[in-house]
Amino acid sequence: MTDTDLIAAARTAAERSYSPYSKFAVGAALRFADGSVVTGTNIENASYGLALCAETVAVAKAMADGRRGGLEAVAVTGPGAEPITPCGRCRQVLNELAQLGGTDPDILCVGPDAVRTVKLSALLPDAFGPASLV
Ligand code: THU
Repeated sequence: MTDTDLIAAARTAAERSYSPYSKFAVGAALRFADGSVVTGTNIENASYGLALCAETVAVAKAMADGRRGGLEAVAVTGPGAEPITPCGRCRQVLNELAQLGGTDPDILCVGPDAVRTVKLSALLPDAFGPASLV
């Protein structure tokens, strides 16, 4: 699973977005050390504030399947002309899974023409996480 494949998986996930209110379809794809990929897309609600972001859905799927680490890379796609970065809440949610496995994943912020890659630790410096509680 190359970065190109991971980006393609995120784009495919965005096609399944349920975003009738914002019409802002987001896709996320998580790559794990064992080569597996888990995708997510944003899921909105008639009660607008209850929207679930793509990255959070992907992390929830992965953790519900039993994954507790090994997060190596995350691709995020949005519909705009520029790459989007994960929202603040998603950074925290991603950090939980990353810190559990002791990784600092690459976050591939994918636009139509460009990919900006940043470390999760750069997006969320001095993160509070499971290691903070022990
Ligand atoms: N959204 C995501 O899925 N991920 C982010 O990191 C930013 C925002 C979604 C939430 C909402 O459904 C739509 O994008 C517009 O904010």
